Amino acid sequence: MKKQVFSGIQPTGNIHIGNYFGAMKHWAASQAEFSNIFCIVDLHAITVPQDPQVLKVKIREVAGLLFAAGINWQESAVFLQSQVSAHAELAWILNCFIPTGWMKRMTQFKEKSEKMKDEVSVGLFDYPALMAADILLYEADLVPVGEDQKQHVEFTRDIAQRFNSIYGKTLKVPEPLIPKVGARIMGLDDPSKKMSKSEGKSAHAVNLLDSPDIIRSKIGRATTDSLREIRFDKNRPGIYNLLVIYELFTGLARPDIERHFQGKGYADFKRELAEVVVEGLRPLQSRYHELTADPKYIDSLFIEGASKVRPTAERTLKKVKERVGLG
Ligand code: AMP
Ligand code: TRP
Repeated sequence: MKKQVFSGIQPTGNIHIGNYFGAMKHWAASQAEFSNIFCIVDLHAITVPQDPQVLKVKIREVAGLLFAAGINWQESAVFLQSQVSAHAELAWILNCFIPTGWMKRMTQFKEKSEKMKDEVSVGLFDYPALMAADILLYEADLVPVGEDQKQHVEFTRDIAQRFNSIYGKTLKVPEPLIPKVGARIMGLDDPSKKMSKSEGKSAHAVNLLDSPDIIRSKIGRATTDSLREIRFDKNRPGIYNLLVIYELFTGLARPDIERHFQGKGYADFKRELAEVVVEGLRPLQSRYHELTADPKYIDSLFIEGASKVRPTAERTLKKVKERVGLG
């Protein structure tokens, strides 16, 4: 029996090369080892204001990119959270067993709500309950998340254990799967910050759907330093980050890369890096455009994905309702 893995992806912002090397590429590679469920979490997306038209486009874009990155919709399940109503239903039931004190400890809510103060939605406060429902519905063994989401998975474990201690064993307690120090790509404009989906600055990230000219211009403007040597030196974060990107796209060994650029200047290096990135993304982009040429196609895959996962979700929900004494 393959272990059940559940991943949630927000359909917001622009998916970039950090997401690809830090997550999507590994997800695609893990399909032989694990039984994977990928959920596009549109109900989580609306915890902060969204433009409806943009959200609709982004949902299909994320799905298209997952498929283009090698997620196979027959081998894995890919579905839209709002199309399986058990997520919202289980989240409500869990809400009634979550002490508000637990919620108040969530660091991501504290950070996100600082700016918005009392305008913050109740949904954003309740975000972890919905995430717990996502995971628990499918009896997931493993939940691959970045460091920033670890607290939410711990919270999911706590609520599952609390429910089980009241009603007897009902919910499977999952484990977080934090990637071993893998690729961590930093911002092109500021190599001290992780490349991020939500950073608005134009030269911050190389997005998976950027055109060749945009990629060249972003890499051309990337922060470097006033030295000359092109070496993997962590004390020179700008050049180091660009070399890491070169390494990830070419798969070459570090000494070979350093030898290749010996005696060359930053301008030559950036030009060559830009071409490597343009060519590296080309197959993914063309698969993406093929898949999304007919917008109805992705929608049909969503329907198929939801039908695949719904029976499991409904089985768990039914069990929970029975335990609680509902209906
Ligand atoms: P996020 O963009 O924060 O929603 O993250 C989605 C996934 O991409 C997570 O598994 C992250 O660990 C991964 N990821 C996000 N940004 C980077 C980055 N700059 N470098 C490497 N991996 C990243
Ligand atoms: N909160 C996650 C993020 O922002 C997305 C998410 C929602 C998720 N539900 C999930 C991740 C369930 C893993 C499991 O990245």
